[in-house]
Amino acid sequence: MNRRVLGNTNDEVSEVGFGAWQIGADWGDEVPEGQALETLHAAADAGVNFVDTADVYGAGRSEEIVGKFVRERGERIYVATKMGRGTDTWDDGYDEIARAAEASCARLGVDRLDLVQLHCIPEETLRAGRAFENLERVKEAGLVRHYGASVETIDEALFCIRHSPAVSLQVIFNIFRQRVVDDLLQAARVNHMGVIARVPLASGLLGGRFRPGHQFDGRDHRRFNADGQVFNVGETFAGVPFGDGVELAAEVGEILGGESPGATLAQKALRWVLDHEAVSTVIPGAKTPAQARENAAASAMAPLSAAAHSALRELYQGKIDAKVRGRY
Ligand SMILES: NC(=O)c1ccc[n+]([C@@H]2O[C@H](COP(=O)([O-])OP(=O)(O)OC[C@H]3O[C@@H](n4cnc5c(N)ncnc54)[C@H](OP(=O)(O)O)[C@@H]3O)[C@@H](O)[C@H]2O)c1
Repeated sequence: MNRRVLGNTNDEVSEVGFGAWQIGADWGDEVPEGQALETLHAAADAGVNFVDTADVYGAGRSEEIVGKFVRERGERIYVATKMGRGTDTWDDGYDEIARAAEASCARLGVDRLDLVQLHCIPEETLRAGRAFENLERVKEAGLVRHYGASVETIDEALFCIRHSPAVSLQVIFNIFRQRVVDDLLQAARVNHMGVIARVPLASGLLGGRFRPGHQFDGRDHRRFNADGQVFNVGETFAGVPFGDGVELAAEVGEILGGESPGATLAQKALRWVLDHEAVSTVIPGAKTPAQARENAAASAMAPLSAAAHSALRELYQGKIDAKVRGRY
């Protein structure tokens, strides 16, 4: 597993990380704790040392399971969590932020958080800057080592690069969301800003196994938020309508057919993300050890060819960009 340095920290994180939303809630049937732990260990056995979670994933369940995993593992695992998504009226004052950090520490079983990310807080709150000032104070108090932001739009990401002391940005980045390449990655690289690529498989579409009409469970956001009914539609299928996404994933599969023989479409989609050197780590979500192992193996693959990259760019510009809904 290759490692990359996260922004201007000295943390060497695995270039394939682990997204732990799935082991919290919102992805259909609850993943039993034993299975979640096996999945995390499978990822770590394959060299993954970076896990992304949040206080709201399963109302703390994801953090608790990740904490248990880190204790069982007994080796250096970087855990990035998030705060600020619990309510519509999140208070970005010092006391609230310190309390949220303490609660995450308690669930994770640590004294200090490696990385805490603002969890897609409202743009005006982000731009006001008080959250960053208070995160700095919480850092000085010893509750967090580093802080960053998970954002929805490229403008928010650029704002953080230019006007905040954040060390990392978490953005939706995948073959269905290529605007990030031109509009953000260069600025992030030049400014040594860590980039954490989320939703890399477009919520599974880029795994290539869904067919038109697929029915998701009622507790799965791929059903209850398929068109953005509950939160930003970009977080579900990267904002592409499901039916279109199934067809587009098939076209992606055709373009990548000759690349890396033996690799799966999911691995090629992750490889596409990793081929952008400004990315620090890509964090596919997984529910099974097999998925975790398959995803981790994308690190060892050769880069995709220049021809594949340019064909995917053409596909994006010609057929995908106009279909992406939601804040971007
Ligand atoms: N606002 C935020 O900050 C925010 C928002 C979204 C996500 N995130 C973070 O980003 C992580 C990743 O994003 P995501 O989970 O939304 O989307 P994702 O990684 O694009 O998709 C994950 C889904 O893809 C499928 N999958 C995983 N590995 C596969 C493989 N090898 N082959 C085929 N299919 C595979 C699984 O679907 P099945 O479950 O159907 O098997 C899995 O649940 C999350 O876990 C979370 O940590 C953060």
